[in-house]
Amino acid sequence: MSLLYTVPNNLTSLIDVIKMINQKSENLPEPDPEASAHSKKLCNYINQKIASAKSAIPFAEFMELALYTPGLGYYSAGAHKIGRAGDFITAPELSPLFSYCLANQCAQILPNLINGNILELGAGSGKMAGDILSHLEKINCLPNHYYILEISADLKARQQAFIKQAYPHFLSKIIWLDTLPNNFIGIILANEVLDAMPVTIFNWQENTLAEYYVGIDQNNHYTWLLKPASNALQDAFKEITNEININSWFLPYNSEINLLLPGWLSSLNHCLEQGILLLIDYGFPLHEYYHPQRNQGTLMCHYQHRAHSNPLILVGLQDITSHVNFTAVTQFAIQAGLGLEGYVSQANFLFNTGLLELIKTYQEPDSLNFNSAIKILTLPSEMGELFKVIGFSKNYKALLIGFSNQDLSHRL
Ligand SMILES: C[S@@+](CC[C@H](N)C(=O)[O-])C[C@H]1O[C@@H](n2cnc3c(N)ncnc32)[C@H](O)[C@@H]1O
Repeated sequence: MSLLYTVPNNLTSLIDVIKMINQKSENLPEPDPEASAHSKKLCNYINQKIASAKSAIPFAEFMELALYTPGLGYYSAGAHKIGRAGDFITAPELSPLFSYCLANQCAQILPNLINGNILELGAGSGKMAGDILSHLEKINCLPNHYYILEISADLKARQQAFIKQAYPHFLSKIIWLDTLPNNFIGIILANEVLDAMPVTIFNWQENTLAEYYVGIDQNNHYTWLLKPASNALQDAFKEITNEININSWFLPYNSEINLLLPGWLSSLNHCLEQGILLLIDYGFPLHEYYHPQRNQGTLMCHYQHRAHSNPLILVGLQDITSHVNFTAVTQFAIQAGLGLEGYVSQANFLFNTGLLELIKTYQEPDSLNFNSAIKILTLPSEMGELFKVIGFSKNYKALLIGFSNQDLSHRL
């Protein structure tokens, strides 16, 4: 996820930029009357849930409702989200070369599978699907089908309209699914899906673990409440304390845990009969995620290309995300039955899968935009290092080109 703002020269990392923008979160643009009315409808729905839960719901439930309530949630309703006219930009929107590199990785795998296909989870605007297929067509390696599983009805309609307009000849190849298929053979891709999954927020101080809930204050605003941690949170927290010395944490320590990960990875393992799962997202291994000084967690919101840290405002109008704990992803994937194939920075995955060769042959009319997109995708201070690609396999053995150099699996 990238934002459209100018980075001052003296700031060296994305985190610096985010801190700078957080300080300005009170200066967010006002939503227009139509957007405000939409948000009010969603708030009324969430308020009913809070009332029937006797005054508060866990933050994970609030995040789920804010993003995915059918017809009302941020991802499920009609506003433009991804791209220059939306709230944030993702790698496939920056340059088709990102998708061409993924296509090169798919082209290495597909000929080794009998009737191998591609399944993309959470396909956003549909651009990555179109660009991957267009590159696979160019190098003569088209699969029979490209499946898309999209939980947002609005995004599914946008994807269909985009493919119809930009790649009409792929319409018969792309099949939209409502649930994961059985016995899938091929490659499962998910770009920035993990970061959009609801997370539980915990608080650790004075040797007590608590969980953040969302309630409503006297002024009818959403407010944070601390309640005893659920059993599931306590179990997951215990796993963290087995690996990390929490005595070095700066207190009070607030952070997130994705309690949906084990179930999600188990369902992907169940669906995949043979092939590869590739997940692309921003995040770190466990020790960096729960770094002693990262005591405000990683939760972020995106609204009209501004980042800030308050998920209780602009409900339904802003994206809410958190970074990914890639150690947890690996542990649960392996527990589910998948094998780790590699873990590299986005920049290295793109270099390993032929970015430099693609740059030489790619014709881009607007070379200024082209150069700046390549920089954003690969520079360590932009998406190059914070974003990672992690690969898992099932009943498939062969070194994947994407992980052939600079594999960081030992850090997980
Ligand atoms: C940040 S957007 C990324 C979109 C797109 N992959 C891109 O890179 O532009 C997150 C996407 O994940 C989808 N999503 C979230 N949870 C999902 C799940 N459990 N299964 C499938 N898609 C999901 C959302 O609806 C949305 O399309």
